[in-house]
Amino acid sequence: MYASRGGPNSSPGGMQSKEVADPVHNVTFTVRQIRFHGSRIYSLSERINSLSVIIVGRGVGNFPSHRGNHDADITRYAGRIVMSDRQGRLEGRSALITGGASGIGKATAKLFLEEGAKVTICDRNVEVLDQASADLRALGGEVMSVAGDVGSMTDAASMVQTAVDGFGRLDVLFCCAGIASVMPISEVKEEEWDAVINANLKGMFTMVKHAVPQMRSQGGGTIVTMGSELGIVAVPESPAYGASKGGVISFTRSIAIDLIRYNIRVNSLCPGITKTPLLQAEVDLSLDPERTAREQAEWAPIMRIADPREIAYGALFLASDESSFAVGSCLVLDGGYTIR
Ligand SMILES: NC(=O)c1ccc[n+]([C@@H]2O[C@H](COP(=O)([O-])OP(=O)(O)OC[C@H]3O[C@@H](n4cnc5c(N)ncnc54)[C@H](O)[C@@H]3O)[C@@H](O)[C@H]2O)c1
Repeated sequence: MYASRGGPNSSPGGMQSKEVADPVHNVTFTVRQIRFHGSRIYSLSERINSLSVIIVGRGVGNFPSHRGNHDADITRYAGRIVMSDRQGRLEGRSALITGGASGIGKATAKLFLEEGAKVTICDRNVEVLDQASADLRALGGEVMSVAGDVGSMTDAASMVQTAVDGFGRLDVLFCCAGIASVMPISEVKEEEWDAVINANLKGMFTMVKHAVPQMRSQGGGTIVTMGSELGIVAVPESPAYGASKGGVISFTRSIAIDLIRYNIRVNSLCPGITKTPLLQAEVDLSLDPERTAREQAEWAPIMRIADPREIAYGALFLASDESSFAVGSCLVLDGGYTIR
């Protein structure tokens, strides 16, 4: 990723206009394409905050790390613009994402597709699953979907089998499915405890259990488990959720030690507050939704909540070869919440 304000060496020769979409904010920018020492650069036609020119090399010698051949992708976070080219980090790989119909799972499915993966999404909510697979197919790329509950061994087996039957192999497993629970211990009923542990923790076990034999037979793979900042630090009224996410981090470390000898790398992703339907439900169900939304926005030192795509980039890193030395680690993307 390169950012510059341009300079005297910029050559306007061969300039072309081009529309580039910001997928996060649903905005389209007009950009000019310019040649710069043989590389293509994009100059934004309008000045946005202090960043006015962004350079991206596309498959050119000057920028060897940028070997992708896809369209540039502009995203804007926290009032800044980040531009990255798509590099085919998962080119040809088969990726299975649980909870892939919504929120972080769906954003990750989209990013994985952009990076060349063939993606199978699974979810127990059939309605959102159908909508998500239609949305993802509309973007192009190969997508399959399978309904099921990650808390069930039988369903987990059929999710893995669907990916393997459809795409011939399984290279990446992202165990993202999960549910929230905000309740003090005095109010937590046994059924709620079981539901949270089943979805958030047992759901990792069932999926990993079925994915590992396939990955071993292929010579390796990557597994990303979904933890949370609340698996690291405690907050009030979160005994079931905190226990499930703390368990995910421990489970991840434990299996990472065993599985690395088969070239299977396992790591967990620990996001902070992220704008998803799960989070919105928490706001809607709270006694004072306006106050809850304000508290969420001011939760972390960064003073905003994450966009799901920002978390998806963490999943991409852990799923791809770029994290080749990460084993049993916990990638915390929390806007600084746990550093205080
Ligand atoms: N949103 C946040 O602030 C946040 C922060 C940290 C961690 N997380 C974790 O990220 C993950 C995704 O959450 P999200 O915010 O995108 O929520 P979301 O509700 O938008 O998506 C979760 C998806 O998982 C599915 N799901 C839930 N239980 C399932 C089960 N037993 N079997 C199959 N599918 C199931 C749901 O139907 C839903 O489509 C969860 O594990 C959550 O704990 C979220």
